[in-house]
This record gives sequence, structure tokens and C-alpha cells, in this order.
Amino acid sequence: MLDLLITHAILPDGRTDMSVAVQAGRIVGVEAGLEAPAHEKLDAEGQLLSPPFCDPHFHMDATLSYGLPRVNQSGTLLEGIALWGELKPQLTEEALVQRALAYGDWAVAKGLLAIRSHVDTSDPSLLPVRAMLEAKKRMAPYLDLQLVAFPQDGVLRSPGGLANLQRALDMGVDVVGGIPHFERTMSEGAASVKLLCELAAERGLPVDMHCDESDDPLSRHIETLAYETQRLGLQGRVNGSHLTSMHSMDNYYVSKLIPLIADAGVSAVANPLINITLQGRHDTYPRRRGMTRVPELMAAGVTVAFGHDCVMDPWYALGSGDMLEVAHMGLHVAQMTGQAGMRQCFEAVTTNAARVMGLSGYGIEEGFDASFVLLQASDPVEAIRLRATRLKVWRRGQLLSETAPAMARLTLPGRPGATGFTR
Ligand code: FE2
Repeated sequence: MLDLLITHAILPDGRTDMSVAVQAGRIVGVEAGLEAPAHEKLDAEGQLLSPPFCDPHFHMDATLSYGLPRVNQSGTLLEGIALWGELKPQLTEEALVQRALAYGDWAVAKGLLAIRSHVDTSDPSLLPVRAMLEAKKRMAPYLDLQLVAFPQDGVLRSPGGLANLQRALDMGVDVVGGIPHFERTMSEGAASVKLLCELAAERGLPVDMHCDESDDPLSRHIETLAYETQRLGLQGRVNGSHLTSMHSMDNYYVSKLIPLIADAGVSAVANPLINITLQGRHDTYPRRRGMTRVPELMAAGVTVAFGHDCVMDPWYALGSGDMLEVAHMGLHVAQMTGQAGMRQCFEAVTTNAARVMGLSGYGIEEGFDASFVLLQASDPVEAIRLRATRLKVWRRGQLLSETAPAMARLTLPGRPGATGFTR
């Protein structure tokens, strides 16, 4: 007897009338029209069953702090960094844990079950690191939280930056971070990339850097990141986050750069909501979008995912943990409006994001974790278009969240037939 049998589901790859059989938290069968005895049966009624959403780039230590101690008036990156600096002395471990837990609740309700969060290691107290490790422990039964040691003030630029980052790794932070474009000079930025990649190689850890989050076309730290990845044999374990300078680079240089990134097996994460908000701020018109070259990287075989980056923090006033909103913005900013492009944007917040995070057992396949989301949509494009309701969210066979279907009851003068629902 199965624990759970879902029937008549559509999968993101387009297969219809699919049954998914679950036993002991694992998928034990994925087959068209499969029927079998089960303790619980659910007819998906032709709606989309997707693997859970994954956010490969977030800042959990800053989330839900919007307005503390004041709001960002200009909405710029620099005022955000200044605000974060004002907020830091007021932070308490318990408040950070509580905000992270609150965001985790939002995430689960939106079918977002894996988050890679950068955590600021600049302050010698490492208070955000302790808080995020505690939040990770408390959320472990329902959400996978990966932590990246992120030297916000520059690993070389800030006093004690390297020692603090190493202590964070000693405490159990999973990934080595960096911010080369924020170091004092281009050469110090490149030195930080080399140093941090060597540190990751020594410790056997992945790398995920904020890299070239700038409109400066000469910010080329991604080139060094790809070089060091290849030199140290870190292929498949390194991610470049943001890469916004690529938006403004010379096309000839990019034609050399993208194959280097692909050859090195470096993945890329764009953060569409934040890139379009924070980049191009020094422009008049035309004003640059600032997002990296998503379709071109994908076409070269680079794994590209989309991250949320910020929700209600010093840098961004909006957001709700909805990775479909992220995909929706990414699709527009990258002009990936063809059928294939829109599906790739769905993959950027599901399978590609899981690959960037190195998740195992992810996907709707026999033998994998029974973690999935039932959406009020019939395919990935409709899911993005509607930011579809997450009807049910399961993790390892356990139902974590249910949301009532979105429905509007119409009462229109002169339209007696129009009483159904609309999305
Ligand atoms: Fe970030």
C-alpha cells in the first residue's frame, strides 16, 4: 500500500495524465495512468505538479527588516549598504532568527523549499552567522537553508575580513562567498577571488560570489573566477552571482568570456528584481536594465538560475518569497518571451537553481525525494503568467502547506452567464 498516489497531473516537461506514487517520503513511481492502492489519493485534475521552487541567492540575515531603523529613501545600493551599517549595531540574534523563521513560513507557503542565503561575516561578533545557523537548524525539518560566508565589506578591504570569514566556515557555514568588485582595486578584487577559491579548494567547499554587481563594463572579476575554477579543478562547484557588469560589456569581449565561463563549468545566478532595481542608477536615458546576459549564457550551455536576493530589507521594499514573481521579472528583463524562453525561466527557479545549489534527489523521478508543488496552472508558462496559486506543497512525502484556489465570482450587470471564476 502506497502512502500517497497523485493522479492526472501534468509535469513541467509536458507529460500529461501522470501518476506519482509515494512511499516513505520517496517517489516510487512516475507513470502515465498508474493506479494502485494508497492511504491517500489525490486527483490533480490536469494541474501542474512541479518540483519545489529553489532560491539560489538570498540574504536571510537582512530579510523583513524593511524600515529598520529607517526606510531607504533613494532605493539605491549605496543607501542600502549604509542603512545595513546603521542597522547592524541594533541587531539581536533572536530578532534575526525570528525574521528568518517568518520568511521561511512565507517561502514554504509559496512552494519554495530550498534557499541559499549569503550571511554577512564582516563583523567580528559573527552575530548574523550564529543566528542563521540557528535558523537553519530550526527550519531543517521543512526547508533546506544553505549558508554562504559573505564578506559584505570586502574580505581584503575590511580589517579581519579573512579571519572572520574563516571562523564562519569553521562554525559550519556551507559555501565560500566573496565580493571582488567591492575590494579597493581591480587587482585586490582579483586577489580576493584567487584567495577565496584556494580556501574553498583546501576545505572542499563550493564557491558562490557576488561578482561584478556593477554597471562598470571593466569589472571583469568573472574572468578571474572562471580561470581560478579551472586552475584549481573546481568545475561544477563555483557560481557567479549577479554578473551585472556583463550587461554593459563590449560584445567582442563577451564573445570570448562566455565560452571561458562555460568551459570552467561555472554557473550563473541573475537576480532580476534586484538587478533592475539597483543597476543603471547613474544613467539618465537610455537607462540600462543591468541584468546579466541570461539567454546568451544559457545558449552556451552555462547553468543559469534566478534568485530573489532581497525581500523587504534595506535594498528592496517588496517581495513575498514568490519565485514565480522572480521568473516573471526575469522573463521580461531578458526578453525571453518565446515559448522556449519562458520555459527556461521556469527552469531558472526550479531545476537550474537546484543544480546551482548542488541539491541531490531533486526532481519528479523515481527514487527521488517526494517533494513537489501542485500549482493552479496547466503548464510552466501559465504558472508564470498567473503567479499561480500553490494549492499544495509536499516535502519528502509530508504535506506542508495548502492554499485555496484563486477564484473570482462575477456578478456583472447584463451578463447573467458570467458567474464562473476567472484567474
Ligand atoms: Fe546578494
